[in-house]
Amino acid sequence: MCGIIGYAGHRPAVPVVIEGLRRLEYRGYDSAGVAFARQGHLHVVRATGKLAALEEKLAHEGGVTMTTCAMGHTRWATHGAPVERNAHPHCSNDGTLAMVHNGIIENFQEIKAALIDKGYVFSSETDTEVLVNLIAEHRKTEPDLLHAFAAALREARGAYAVCLMDKENPGVLYAARMSAPLIFGIGTGENFIASDIPAFLPYTRKVLFLEDGEIVRLTASGFEVLQLADLSLATHEPQVIQWDMQAAQKSGYRHFMLKEIFEQPRVIADGLTGRVSHGDVLLRELDALPVPRRLYIVACGTSYHSGLWGRHLLEHWAKVPVQVEIASEFRYRDTLLLEKDDMVLVISQSGETADTLAALRIAREHGVHVLGLCNVVGSSIAREAQAVLYTQAGPEISVASTKAMCSQMLMLALMALYWGRRKDSMTMEDRHSVLAVLEKLPNVLAEALPEMHKRARELSRKYAQARNFFYLGRGHCYPLALEGALKLKELSYIHAEGYAAGEMKHGPIALIDPTFPTFVLALDDDLLPKVVSNLVEVQARQGRVIALVNDGVDVKADDVWNIPSLPGFLAAFAVLPAVQLFSYETADYLGKDVDQPRNLAKSVTVE
Ligand code: G6P
Repeated sequence: MCGIIGYAGHRPAVPVVIEGLRRLEYRGYDSAGVAFARQGHLHVVRATGKLAALEEKLAHEGGVTMTTCAMGHTRWATHGAPVERNAHPHCSNDGTLAMVHNGIIENFQEIKAALIDKGYVFSSETDTEVLVNLIAEHRKTEPDLLHAFAAALREARGAYAVCLMDKENPGVLYAARMSAPLIFGIGTGENFIASDIPAFLPYTRKVLFLEDGEIVRLTASGFEVLQLADLSLATHEPQVIQWDMQAAQKSGYRHFMLKEIFEQPRVIADGLTGRVSHGDVLLRELDALPVPRRLYIVACGTSYHSGLWGRHLLEHWAKVPVQVEIASEFRYRDTLLLEKDDMVLVISQSGETADTLAALRIAREHGVHVLGLCNVVGSSIAREAQAVLYTQAGPEISVASTKAMCSQMLMLALMALYWGRRKDSMTMEDRHSVLAVLEKLPNVLAEALPEMHKRARELSRKYAQARNFFYLGRGHCYPLALEGALKLKELSYIHAEGYAAGEMKHGPIALIDPTFPTFVLALDDDLLPKVVSNLVEVQARQGRVIALVNDGVDVKADDVWNIPSLPGFLAAFAVLPAVQLFSYETADYLGKDVDQPRNLAKSVTVE
């Protein structure tokens, strides 16, 4: 999703902005641009493709290092193709204003038509160019730019994080947020505005999380945060960020994704710290909330798969009935039968996913308890949920989510144990034996990962030419089959589908032939005989099979992949890195951009 950074300070601003954009690359983008004022003119430089293309163009611009105020943008196309004329910043017709924007202005067509009637012309298909011209139009009757900016924003419907620059006052930036992330960084003699903290973290750790409906006016030496509604002052307590850039670097791994897969043992260890004590689970964030009568889990993408997996544990250990829903469906349900004692749990790594945030707001309107499970501290979901559990996985940079899923699964397991204790639906012995395995998990995985990586590499070489793949699982392994297929398609662009193994014979098996391999999750549990029958059915159609098994499982397959044995539901923690590594190695072998797959964004802040 688009990334924004604005800077006003004492350093050469363009390099600060480019560096900031580089640290926002993880959000995914297809073009980039910067704006700065020089000699009474606004200069806008834009390029399609990666930041290197923008830098190349900037190298031919004079005076780039002279300016101490600039803003930049990485664009992930929504309105209009990823071509230079649609790249940000966009300027007003009179050339006095430039703007960068993340989000979608829903009523931009109406506004555009009214502006065209007034003689405005548009060179892009973007809603952003409409908004910046609307500000210019308001400025005709309202010379104070702050007031003109606010008046235009009050007309706009939809989601935005915007940053605005004025040729007349080149050291001032204006920014505003509505349902899209925007964070203000407070430095010494310099200030920042950005879509995410890493953009300015080398310069300051002191931040303000802007709220929806707030505007900020900033210069090198000061700032004011105001309410969009009446331009009254908003009060905010700055917060100090504890994590550093080191945590967001590759630490010698070839890609962020590989590093993040290998961080999973640490993620589990960190997640357990302070949460488990004397054989019990402490989730203080949940103490004030009742155990739900029924739980709705709402999420997107990989977070949705975590929810599907967590459902098995929550129902089995805590005896809480669970319904898992895709956020973009949940938010538009015709009939939402939420009742007073129900709870909605939204799961989101970023805490900014537009559909998940909308689902959260709908749940709150229904008056039910709303709990957030998020990775990013201070994110919109974390702030708007009634209570929040943090997954503490640390910054996840690779677009495809890996360690975040592991951390979500861990927290769901802890929630099931915690509610199981409160409801007395699980014996103490059972709880203790689960906790004992969880505590050993970091070591078990850390030891197993290098071997798993090797096996994933071997198998990827053998199967990378396939154009299609099935992933089959049953019970709690079915969500992992879905996740395996999602990872393979998003990284390697090989078409892959996850299926409940028993469903194969109801249609999909028709596709099987020697060119269409199947990845079967065949763990040593009660469902194994059923899974083996499905595996044999695939083989009977000359389908090639990779069987992911643990000790004690004796299956015949083209390739058998042994992973560590872990009891019951916890076996999933060994399946997850295996499917992640297989996709990683396949994509890398095929020469794909592993950390930034085409067309994908890390944080999807539009519908
Ligand atoms: C995007 C990312 C996925 C992620 C999904 C949900 O599609 O590419 O990796 O699973 O959003 O994101 P969230 O931040 O809400 O977990």
